Amino acid sequence: MRRIGFGVLAGAVMLVAALLAPARAQDTIKIGLLLTYSGPFADNARRIDNGVQLYVKEHGDSIAGKKIEIIRRDTTGAAPDIAKRLAQELVTRDKVDFLAGFVLTPNALAVADVANEAKVPMVIMNAATSIITSKSPYVARVSFTLPQVTVPLAQWAARDGISQVYLMTSDYGPGRDAAAAFEKSFTAAGGTVVGAVAMPLQSPDFSAYAQRLNDLRPQAVFLFVPAGQQATALMKALAEQGLTRSGVKILATGDVTDDAVLQGMGDAALNIISSHHYSYAHSSPANKAYVEAYAAQFGDDIRPNFMSVGGYDGMAAIYRVIEQLHGEMDGANAMAALKGMRIESPRGPIQIDAATRDVVQTVYIRRVEKVEGKLVNVEFDKVDNVKDPGKP
Ligand code: PHB
Repeated sequence: MRRIGFGVLAGAVMLVAALLAPARAQDTIKIGLLLTYSGPFADNARRIDNGVQLYVKEHGDSIAGKKIEIIRRDTTGAAPDIAKRLAQELVTRDKVDFLAGFVLTPNALAVADVANEAKVPMVIMNAATSIITSKSPYVARVSFTLPQVTVPLAQWAARDGISQVYLMTSDYGPGRDAAAAFEKSFTAAGGTVVGAVAMPLQSPDFSAYAQRLNDLRPQAVFLFVPAGQQATALMKALAEQGLTRSGVKILATGDVTDDAVLQGMGDAALNIISSHHYSYAHSSPANKAYVEAYAAQFGDDIRPNFMSVGGYDGMAAIYRVIEQLHGEMDGANAMAALKGMRIESPRGPIQIDAATRDVVQTVYIRRVEKVEGKLVNVEFDKVDNVKDPGKP
């Protein structure tokens, strides 16, 4: 009797569990967040994650009656095979509704195949090579592209009377995009590219490149390396060669004058002209509130940078999709909701282009200045509504 009773009870428990399980799964919307949490790009991952956390703190962890669950996975460095395997696990085992994150282009490109196959929307919070969004109709980007920020800078340089530029860029997707975009726009505006070097992504020794630049002494140099440690190392090498005081004009994308590490570069970074989509010194009420909220949560010493804003806006896009679909997740409907979406970002208004799923935004030209004793990127010119010029 006792045995039968137990069996019946166990059976009833299993039945109830089976009935409850799908209901519970539907009550949760899962976001697989793939970032370089370890290795040389770990600081970048932390900043994106901070932006994600801040958004969730401000907007709550449920939306449209669904609980938001973020599943974090460490892609380590530029490791497309690891990123792809992790994304496959997130899709097949964890059944995520979104893939998000992506500091680095090679990882984003590898995961785009997974998103495409599984029809899971993928939201790019940083990776900035133009082609990524063309890899699948399931990819959308809220960050930026290198051609998008580089073209306005090349045009500004030509207008400013600079006629000869040497290019120093990282030898992978975003660096190649930046070099090509600079050369095309600058020569179209009458300038000359007097030489170019592509520097390896993995452990580059910038001192050799800085030395060569010192020997060449061009009128100006254009720089792109990924933000964070590499930007710091590049600036150190240029300063050691005396290049920051040599009269060679330094132009760069905002990755090099990254807000997060700018203060640590010291006065060597003064007067660098850069272009980017976000400066933490951007003067708008929305950005002031964002910077204050960020400092309240993470402390004054960790500046929010463009990566944090990418994480924050990426979450805004995801929450908006869930809201519009009333929590009924479906990959194709999610992409339809992302197309044309407008977001009031701390950087200013942005839109996800309906045709390309890439971000449209204002690009600012900035100069590194000391304001109240701190090095910041001061915006002094801008071009509104810039689409990715890398798209056909
Ligand atoms: C990229 O790999 O796409 C990437 C990484 C860091 C940046 C910009 C682009 O600062």
